Amino acid sequence: MSARYRTRTLLPSDQDTYRCAVDALRAGQVIAIPTETVYGLAGDAFNESALDAIFQVKGRPAMNPLILHIASHQAQTVQDLIDAEFVRPDVIPKDIEVALDRVMNAFWPGPLTLVLPRHERIPDRLTAGLDTVALRVPAHPVARKLIESTFPLAAPSANRSGRISPTSAEAVAEELKGRIKYIIDGDACEVGLESSILAYLEGQLRLLRPGAISLKELRRESGFKILPAQKHPVEVKAPGMLQSHYAPDTLLKTFRSENDLLQLLKSEEHSPPAILTLAPLNTENEELLSLMDSRQATAYFLSESRDFTEIARCLFARLRGLDQSPHGVIYAQLPPQDQGLGQAIRDRLLKAAAPRTLFS
Ligand code: TXA
Ligand code: MG
Repeated sequence: MSARYRTRTLLPSDQDTYRCAVDALRAGQVIAIPTETVYGLAGDAFNESALDAIFQVKGRPAMNPLILHIASHQAQTVQDLIDAEFVRPDVIPKDIEVALDRVMNAFWPGPLTLVLPRHERIPDRLTAGLDTVALRVPAHPVARKLIESTFPLAAPSANRSGRISPTSAEAVAEELKGRIKYIIDGDACEVGLESSILAYLEGQLRLLRPGAISLKELRRESGFKILPAQKHPVEVKAPGMLQSHYAPDTLLKTFRSENDLLQLLKSEEHSPPAILTLAPLNTENEELLSLMDSRQATAYFLSESRDFTEIARCLFARLRGLDQSPHGVIYAQLPPQDQGLGQAIRDRLLKAAAPRTLFS
């Protein structure tokens, strides 16, 4: 796609910003907006040409559905979602409805998406023809204000399809400069990873995508059984679950232990490597240090104190930065398997390391 726009970055504090943004959205155009998870590429969810533009600007396959971002006042309870004609009436059993009401009360507005049976009014283009719709109430004040002053917004992450989600206005510009008219700069995203996706499918609640809100928290708040995200989904319920989806251009390999890292460094491929660890690599392993030296490896870390909130917040920005540096390969340390934020970080790193697929 060739450049069509002189992309302008707008600040929320500037007088004209909301008027420009609202005018563009009303005209069926798409703009990049900040959310607390990652930046979104937003358009009127009920305007077919806006939906077409989203898919076109991202280069996204039409079979990959979009999340509908809605206002808080329409989303306090499942009944509100039914009344607002987002969700189909009379299909969610009472016990699931109670569990979902609790989850909505605890986590909305916030980094959680719910996949529920769709109302017939929801465009096919948005849901890629599925009989469910993904709904989210974002917490970022800019996203909230825009939705409240216009209409529900369809918004995927504001990256070109298959690339790392942007967590700053500069990163959006790298991705979409020339393809959109406006980027609203709402600072670096607080969460830094895409929302957790919880779905009601086939009579059960299931986590489809791990995110800032953990399975443990969802189970605790809902008081209900929630199935974990599947590692290798037999049937693709969320294309975000497809193996490779968040990939930098640079080859990325993951390691768990110092010994794994040693083996990777011995492979001698793709120099010079970047070594990305969760906390500073304080090693006294002589063999490791000398291999790092001979391969001209550079060590980077994500958090001084191995704080997972901080790691999530800066992971994508760091991968983006490493992608632009002359490293032949990124060796990234995986967090241990757990059910908290570490699971979401693991998920994104494994996806970045997975073989590239048709959908990436
Ligand atoms: O944090 C987020 O969720 C960000 C911000 C902008 O809100 N959005 C985001 O959108 O990550 P996107 O399009 O990059 O990822 C949405 C994921 C995709 O993997 C899509 O396949 C899945 O949600 N999805 C959307 N509708 C679905 C549905 N009806 N059933 C299953 N998965 C669905
Ligand atoms: Mg995305």
